Order: sequence, then structure tokens, then C-alpha cells
Amino acid sequence: MQSYQLGIFNEEANIFNVTEYKINDNVSPSTIKRALNNALKGTSEKIEVVISFGKNILNELAPEVQPKNFKNFEQLNGVNGFTMPSNQSDLYFRVIGSDNSLVLDKTIQIQEALKAITTIVISENGFVYKDHRDLTGFVDGSANPKEEKKYLAAIVPEGEPAAGGSFVFHQKWVHDLMKFNELPVSIQEKIIGRTKPDSIELEGDAMPADSHVSRTDASHEGVAMKIWRRSFPFGSATEKGLFFIAYTCDPFRIDIQLERMLGNTEDGVYDQMMNYSKATTGAYSFAPSIKDLKTIL
Ligand code: HEM
Ligand code: MG
Repeated sequence: MQSYQLGIFNEEANIFNVTEYKINDNVSPSTIKRALNNALKGTSEKIEVVISFGKNILNELAPEVQPKNFKNFEQLNGVNGFTMPSNQSDLYFRVIGSDNSLVLDKTIQIQEALKAITTIVISENGFVYKDHRDLTGFVDGSANPKEEKKYLAAIVPEGEPAAGGSFVFHQKWVHDLMKFNELPVSIQEKIIGRTKPDSIELEGDAMPADSHVSRTDASHEGVAMKIWRRSFPFGSATEKGLFFIAYTCDPFRIDIQLERMLGNTEDGVYDQMMNYSKATTGAYSFAPSIKDLKTIL
């Protein structure tokens, strides 16, 4: 297999930053490449950086690295006036580690290297909350594919264009935590589709069709639409949420899950979680294999 960017599968880190950039008009590819090389150089061994590119800029920098089905994320609209807006940008950096200072230093180094040619669209810090819980108090990541299956879910397979790369989906969600926390735990569990203390999936009649797990545990033509999630919570007195991050071998898998959450299916059933959390950004990018990254840079 072409070697994928290692940070994609890091499960040890507990401090994160994601920053998304738009490249200014009329910047030449060689200037962009020089800035990216400066951004990435001298990375500490205690840090990992996953870099990914929006469709337009990947096409400009390396037309030969064109994954199948790559597209920009466009706003989705669902039932009940639910929306998932797009903030599609050009460059995406996820910096991960276990030392706040090192993660911030790297984030700033990247920002300074890109300063003259980009505009920041969003920069969000996050961390592992308790035992890998989302701020709603539910464990996040339980049903992520295990062992070899995570590579199948996340990495474009050998023989396909841009093999070894991974499609990335970023979506910032803001919770109405007070509203969610007012609900009895038994209702919260029906919204998520798992028990709260120990994250056991609800079974049979106990599992509602409109739970988050029911909407996202999707199959298409007999194939389970597995993805590899690496989301992180963020929080302050003013805003609390989840920065959703998923890697996939095919963005179609994410599209299906989002449409099912939004109720854009024949039955119109939507994800109950959407009554308590709101998507505020959304974008696709592509994290090329290490080999393709060398071509691009
Ligand atoms: C499962 C939280 C958004 C895809 C879960 C679980 C929680 C959770 C607590 C159950 C435990 C687990 O398996 O990880 C959230 C929150 C979100 C959010 C708080 C935003 C507010 C999304 C989005 C997607 C998604 C946008 C898809 C694009 C999934 C998948 C599963 C899952 C695939 C596993 C389903 C299965 O059991 O197979 N999420 N999630 N989630 N979520 Fe989310
Ligand atoms: Mg399942």
C-alpha cells in the first residue's frame, strides 16, 4: 500500500488544532509550494501534521494527483429547515500531539509561513475530554472500525487514482448543551443510540430509527459505509461543540450519512441530535499519500 499520512491513524494524541486557509487570488503555484515547505519543515517528533487540499488547489498544484469522486462541499438542506453550510477552503492542517505548547508552536509556524498568501477561514483547538467523550457526555468513537478495517475505511486502495490518500471531511458543530442536559439520560440515550455510562449500542426495539447511530450506520448496495472518525470537542463559556473530522476512501460514504441525518430519505426520518447541535461549517479536502505529497510539494 502507498504510505498514507501517519497522523490520520494517531490514537494517542490528546491535544489538537485544525486550521483551514483560503489561498489569496493570483498566487503562483511555486510561491504556494515554497510556503508549504516552510510550513512543514522542522516538525518535532512529538507532533504529527495531517495536510489536506481542497479540490481546486490540488488541481492547480498537481493535476496528476486527482482522486476519483473528489468535489467541493456544497451546502446541504434537510427537513425542518436544517442546514449544513459549506466553508469550503483550500488548505487544511490538523496538528496533533500531547503537548499543548508544541501543538501551538507548530500551528503558529504554519500560520506564519502561509501568512502572506492566505486568509484563515477557521482555527479551532480541541482536546480529549474525559475518557474520549463528546461534551454531551457520550463516548465518541466506539464504533470506529478496528485493526485493518480502519485502513479499508479511510484510505484509497491500491490501483485507484491517488491511492494511499484519504478524503477528509471537516464539520464544526455547536451544541445547545443546556437543552441537551435538561433531558433525562434515558431520552439522551435514545437520541444517540447508545447507553451513556458504558457506550453499549441499543438493540432491537430499544434502538429508535431516528437515533444518531441509526442514521449514520448506513449501508449502500450491501456495503457498510464505514468511515474513520477523529473528531475533537472544543469548549469555552461562550461556545461548546464538536469539531467533526472523518477520513474516508470515498466521500460518497459521508454524503449518505449526512443526507440520512438531514432526513433526505424516502421516510424523511432525521437525526434527533440535530435538535441539539448545529453544523456551522463543512468542507471536503484530500490528504495525499506521502509519495504524492512529495510530488505536490
Ligand atoms: C457515532 C457523536 C456528528 C458519523 C457517534 C456516537 C456518538 C456520536 C456519541 C456513538 C459512539 C460511536 O460509535 O462513536 C456525534 C456528535 C456529532 C456527530 C456529538 C455532532 C454534533 C456526526 C457526523 C457524522 C457522524 C456529522 C457523519 C458525517 C457517525 C458514525 C457513527 C457515529 C458513522 C458510528 C455509527 C455506527 O454505530 O456504526 N457519533 N456525532 N457523526 N457517528 Fe457521530
Ligand atoms: Mg452498528
